[in-house]
Amino acid sequence: MNKKTIRDVEWAGKRALVRVDFNVPQDDEGKITDDTRIQAALPTIRYLLEHEANGIVLMSHLGRPKGKVDPKFSMRPIVERLFELLPEATEVKKTEAITGEAAVAAASSLQPGQVLVLENTRFDAREEKNDAVMAAELAKLGDVYVNDAFGTAHRANASTEGVAHQLKPAVAGFLLEKELAFLGSAIERPQRPFVTIMGGAKISDKIGVIEALLGKCDAILIGGGMANTFFVAQGRDVAASLVEKDAIETAKILLAKAEEQGVKMLLPSDVVVADAFSADASTQVVSADAVPAGWRILDIGPTTVQTYSDEVKAAKTVVWNGPMGVFEMEPFAKGTFAVAQAMADATAQGATTIIGGGDSASAIEQAGLADKVSHVSTGGGASLEMLEGITLPGVAALDDR
Ligand code: 3PG
Repeated sequence: MNKKTIRDVEWAGKRALVRVDFNVPQDDEGKITDDTRIQAALPTIRYLLEHEANGIVLMSHLGRPKGKVDPKFSMRPIVERLFELLPEATEVKKTEAITGEAAVAAASSLQPGQVLVLENTRFDAREEKNDAVMAAELAKLGDVYVNDAFGTAHRANASTEGVAHQLKPAVAGFLLEKELAFLGSAIERPQRPFVTIMGGAKISDKIGVIEALLGKCDAILIGGGMANTFFVAQGRDVAASLVEKDAIETAKILLAKAEEQGVKMLLPSDVVVADAFSADASTQVVSADAVPAGWRILDIGPTTVQTYSDEVKAAKTVVWNGPMGVFEMEPFAKGTFAVAQAMADATAQGATTIIGGGDSASAIEQAGLADKVSHVSTGGGASLEMLEGITLPGVAALDDR
């Protein structure tokens, strides 16, 4: 990576303004259901504490409150969790402010060892507009800007991109550095065979990335709801399965491109079908060419699991984004968990294995295999954009080495 990092800064006496991605899932009571992103920011925060930064100001968005204060999206539960996870800090405080006099006063009063968390940056409508005045106001809160929010690096916001131009030095944290190293080397110099697994419901979310990967990888294995749209593009009947009608033409183009470029693009040969979208539905395994009328495809079948697992285990680099079926329901989780196991096996054999964020990250976590793969990305959208070859604005704005 050609960007400066927190290792390039002499921290003593300097206050750090750190953009993290604490946009974590919560239940209806506001309880955090997965704190991976908070845990992932800890190495950077600990490094700043150990190197005696003169206080650490953390900022993040949470959810999509659309520029208005909404207590449902308050950073309070995050601060409580951070406090539990960070016994090294002498104090973890929260301010209701994001910018302005109260924020400046809270930040300036920080001592080494203390952490201050600002309120949700998206409570300010200027954040998502990448407003230069808001960026300048944020810049007053620290002496050095650190971006460790890989999950939000694809958004050009005031706290990710704008502020990096107004507060120098502007450097990367350890999480950002690690994400860029894994995803960057997978797309720039993958060890071959390079296999990607694409799943999830929609092709339309992943057209760009599939197109980009066609030029880079040796095989693309397709699963999840998006496979149905590819089936229809091939003229097959998928009965009551979910199909993205607007994407059928795109699917045809992608299949033709894969053939032209000599990239192996595999679709499931067999599937698990159900007579209703329910965990209690009747199920059966059928050939992908023989989905019974009224039934819907909800997972890949055992022959496909075998084929995909063999491809993954023979690879030297594997990137996986998107589940193979409706893994939230136990009867349709086998395909996704089998792919997770194949990723772990490939890793044990020396392959570099990367899980794009979002649902596949939850799946590998649920399978209990997150520590058996090379890297689980904390960014869903950001990792897709990176795989697509798009420059992430939050990274581009940081100081070059
Ligand atoms: C994410 O969860 O992908 C990031 O935190 C970005 O959130 P957003 O999609 O609401 O911008």
